[in-house]
Amino acid sequence: MLKLLLSFVFILSPSFAQDSCPTDARGLIKFRNSLIEDYSNGGLSTKSAEKVLSQIDKCYKETPKCFDDLFYYLDKKVNSHKYPMKSTSNLDKSDLTISSIKDLPKEFWGKRDNKGEPESIIFPENIEEIAKKKNWPNVLYKTRGSGGFDSGENLYIVVIPGEDKDIVMQVSPEPDKDSVKNGKKSRPNPAEGIHKSQETLTIITVDKTKVPRVGQLRLLSNGYKVDGVRHYKFSNETSVGDCLSCHSKPFRSISPRGFENIQEDIEEKMSEEEAAKVHAVNQVLTTENMTWGSKIISGKEMRLGPNLNEYWLGWATEKVDTKSDSFLEKCASSRKSFYHYALGSTYEKDFEWDEKQKIDLNKVRSAMNCVECHDGKQQGVLHSNFSSDEVKFKIIVDHKMPPNVALNENERIALYNCLYAQRNEILSHRDENRNNIWEAEGYWMKQTSCRGKQFESANPLKNNSNSEGTSSKGRDI
Ligand code: HEC
Ligand code: HEC
Repeated sequence: MLKLLLSFVFILSPSFAQDSCPTDARGLIKFRNSLIEDYSNGGLSTKSAEKVLSQIDKCYKETPKCFDDLFYYLDKKVNSHKYPMKSTSNLDKSDLTISSIKDLPKEFWGKRDNKGEPESIIFPENIEEIAKKKNWPNVLYKTRGSGGFDSGENLYIVVIPGEDKDIVMQVSPEPDKDSVKNGKKSRPNPAEGIHKSQETLTIITVDKTKVPRVGQLRLLSNGYKVDGVRHYKFSNETSVGDCLSCHSKPFRSISPRGFENIQEDIEEKMSEEEAAKVHAVNQVLTTENMTWGSKIISGKEMRLGPNLNEYWLGWATEKVDTKSDSFLEKCASSRKSFYHYALGSTYEKDFEWDEKQKIDLNKVRSAMNCVECHDGKQQGVLHSNFSSDEVKFKIIVDHKMPPNVALNENERIALYNCLYAQRNEILSHRDENRNNIWEAEGYWMKQTSCRGKQFESANPLKNNSNSEGTSSKGRDI
């Protein structure tokens, strides 16, 4: 039936002539744009998706690499029933970067009576000493953020770098004895050692043999204590869903209390020695080109991570006014006060609009460029379910985003306000076809470069005589 439909389309459409199946970069980009336009002119419907897929099929035996996102999205729309549900619990062992306690260094093996097979993950009492000896970047720190899984602000992170994989483990040591009001102090002093931490161990592993690198996140919280020492039960259940709201990609850097861009009224700068430890940890955590991975089930790819067509914060089009002076003047001070408090609540502050401080709208305008880096390749996308608190933290509290841009406090508040005003404006805008403009423009389908090698083996081929390759393709391999 589909074949019939396809030949029908082929015969009736003169635009499918040879020269409309380009193989050079420029032609591919043009063709991709025209396909997205066709899809949008067809009302973003399943039918128009089908038509676009058949155009691709007619042209190429093997889908060009830079049509990857376009193909994935539209094919999933048309053949949704063939795509596996998005779930990580059905990852095979072979897809897992680590699959048992034995994939961790021996130091973390918890054994009953110190004999036999490891049954749990433990942190040795002298973990900091061991880490130092083994050159494992590690630091005990107080978070300035509101994330975390146990109570209190203390966290301990250890990074085990390897040739083929990096393993990062983080636990929450007990809060300080004097945690209620310990003022600006940035150095943790947990009531118990790291080996006697609270309930949750999070592990992030990154497979460095894959391009792009693939990250997997685990939350292990079904442990128990023996003589006060915490034992964490291992599990191969990996999570993506909840973690995605704050981790735009699997690894994210840490921003401890006292480390860079400090708020002098509420925190003290940490020592050089401590800061060097944080840098060493962050060096591993800031690798680019990392994804949540995918899995092939019955020839179909299941991509983990956010849905492709969720709006990306910072994206704009000239067709909707979100960058004019009048738009920016309106959004800049729409919200004037932001309260931030970190887990454990000894780090808290009101960030308020200062009526006396002048702002430069041009600076705000050009800082509204998050998508330039947060494009799903260099950095993770700031999708619809990404936490606005995390965005607030990075812009207003720790001043890390956008990187290396000097903005005053008001400009930071304005940037935050205007990014979300822009998002609302764009998402509520319909184009001349009554389509959602973000979907119609298909920005997320244009991310992969059309330069470089687009076809793995044979030349692309206009195969009107070939009756194969009409419906689902084995394009993943
Ligand atoms: C509410 C936001 C939030 C959520 C949800 C969240 N995280 Fe995080 N996570 C953070 C922040 C913030 C940091 C950096 C810590 C800091 O700067 O104080 C972090 C850091 C980490 C780290 C250490 C740094 C790294 O990249 O390895 C691990 C491990 C981690 N998170 C695991 C997880 C896992 C697993 C999940 C899901 C089960 C998760 N997180 C969900 C906010 C969050
Ligand atoms: C020049 C590239 C660049 C631009 C532009 C940029 N970012 Fe980032 N962003 C990064 C890098 C690199 C990291 C990871 C390193 C770090 O956390 O310091 C990051 C991390 C983040 C994080 C932490 C969460 C995570 O998963 O790593 C948030 C939130 C964030 N950026 C928000 C924004 C927002 C909002 C904007 C726009 C106002 C923006 N960024 C613009 C490069 C950029």
